[in-house]
Amino acid sequence: MKADRKQISTARGVALVRAIEMTRPEADRASSDPYAHRFVNPLTVQFMRVVSALGINRLTGIEEMMNFAMARERHIEAIMSRELRDGTRQIVVLGAGFDTRSYRLPGAAAVPVFEVDHPVTQAAKREALRGVVDPLPANVHFVGVDFDHDDLGERLRAAGYDEGKRTLFVWQGVIVYLTREGADRTLAFIARHAPPGSAVVFDAIDSAALASSGATGLRFFTSAMGEKVTFGIGLDEIVPWLQARGFRDVDIFGHAAMQRAYLGRRPIAAGVYIATARVA
Ligand SMILES: C[S@@+](CC[C@H](N)C(=O)[O-])C[C@H]1O[C@@H](n2cnc3c(N)ncnc32)[C@H](O)[C@@H]1O
Repeated sequence: MKADRKQISTARGVALVRAIEMTRPEADRASSDPYAHRFVNPLTVQFMRVVSALGINRLTGIEEMMNFAMARERHIEAIMSRELRDGTRQIVVLGAGFDTRSYRLPGAAAVPVFEVDHPVTQAAKREALRGVVDPLPANVHFVGVDFDHDDLGERLRAAGYDEGKRTLFVWQGVIVYLTREGADRTLAFIARHAPPGSAVVFDAIDSAALASSGATGLRFFTSAMGEKVTFGIGLDEIVPWLQARGFRDVDIFGHAAMQRAYLGRRPIAAGVYIATARVA
């Protein structure tokens, strides 16, 4: 039961950041999620706004991580839209948590979407969306998986995943909590069970940046959300790492590019990046 609470709280932590972002004027937001408030306590949102106004988030480095989370949200949303336009015929959202893009993005309703997460997190999501996104779209399939114990491929196939269809795998806010072996297992599944041209997008942190004192805020932020970040991949090794696992066309979108594209003067954590790659 303890593990179940932990899984929900990391999903809720990201939803909280989205809900706080929604309190900014629309023109100042890096991204927008009209459903984010459904997953969080409004008092927590207000409390976090006061903490932020007092400058505490900036001092602790939490603000840089929250800004990263919102730039990541926007960038991955843009990649989802691009892939849908370019002929993706299936989306798999790994560790979907309280992400609601599958219900909102133009074009997403036209393809099967598999939201993979712990069944306990999924039950909380259904409950929060009751009466708002109701009924849930018929193209969205909830695939209950415990990544530590279940076979992802078996569960996906049982839910209707088609190995012959070009697929986009969205893996947002998950890899940093895994072991290297856990990340390898999922990449191996994608490389072997999705056709060439299929894509994966995930965010990660450079291992040297993670080990540095500059990552104190990140460690604090993720511990406060329920689970500490433990896994980084060096910016110098990420491209060969993905190529060796059956991927090509690796694109790395770094923290400076994210800040320029989505955040203006808002600070962002150093060493974070978003990787996109195609099955070779
Ligand atoms: C930080 S949240 C990210 C959620 C979502 N991708 C987002 O960006 O809002 C990590 C997600 O991984 C899921 N997760 C963590 N450990 C898991 C496990 N062992 N089995 C299944 N899901 C797990 C949690 O339930 C949670 O939804």
